[in-house]
Amino acid sequence: MNMVFTKIKNEIVDKYSYYIEYLKDYLSDEKIKHCVSTSGYAVYIARKKLIKVDENKIILAGILHDICREWKIEDIIKKAKEFNIKIDEHEKKYPVLLHGPVSAHLAMKELNIGDSDIYEAIYWHTTGKANLGLVGQILFLSDFSEPLRKYPKAAETRKVLEEQGFFNALFYSANERYLLSLKKRDPSPYSLEFINWLKTKRDLCIHAE
Ligand SMILES: [Fe+2]
Ligand SMILES: [Fe+2]
Repeated sequence: MNMVFTKIKNEIVDKYSYYIEYLKDYLSDEKIKHCVSTSGYAVYIARKKLIKVDENKIILAGILHDICREWKIEDIIKKAKEFNIKIDEHEKKYPVLLHGPVSAHLAMKELNIGDSDIYEAIYWHTTGKANLGLVGQILFLSDFSEPLRKYPKAAETRKVLEEQGFFNALFYSANERYLLSLKKRDPSPYSLEFINWLKTKRDLCIHAE
């Protein structure tokens, strides 16, 4: 990845060390690198595509989106119950999906991050949802395509971003993430809603041209 991205990432490591240190209680070094890379790439996307968004929000959402991604499944379920998080049928079947909601609550309760955009972004980062806010959209795209991601679709998504812009890259990543998830799970109703919502947005834009 280019020097602009590396510079952004170094600044985040410097300025947000408190939050990165916090991750060390919960995550492996490799996962922490993914979180920092997601955070840095989110800022890169916003700056490159001139998206008006509060950078502090996308940075924190990026750093904290996977706090409990490496916990044992039973610990994630236990915390979800403790936090009174609503567990739907799909999440009951695939409790790993609860790592977003539980991470969102941990950020709020343990780090006092009360911002609703950050909460929503972290909560929905795995599936997306209809009407997802801008911070959540940027996190979704960045989490899927940050430069440390090894699967080929990540590089492909970054190419779409450079050549066709933010919305097309988001749409592409939502579809590809959905297809990848089908190898492991039944379709998530939220992913489908997210894709359909993006499709409607895209069609509205096409008709407006
Ligand atoms: Fe995640
Ligand atoms: Fe992630």
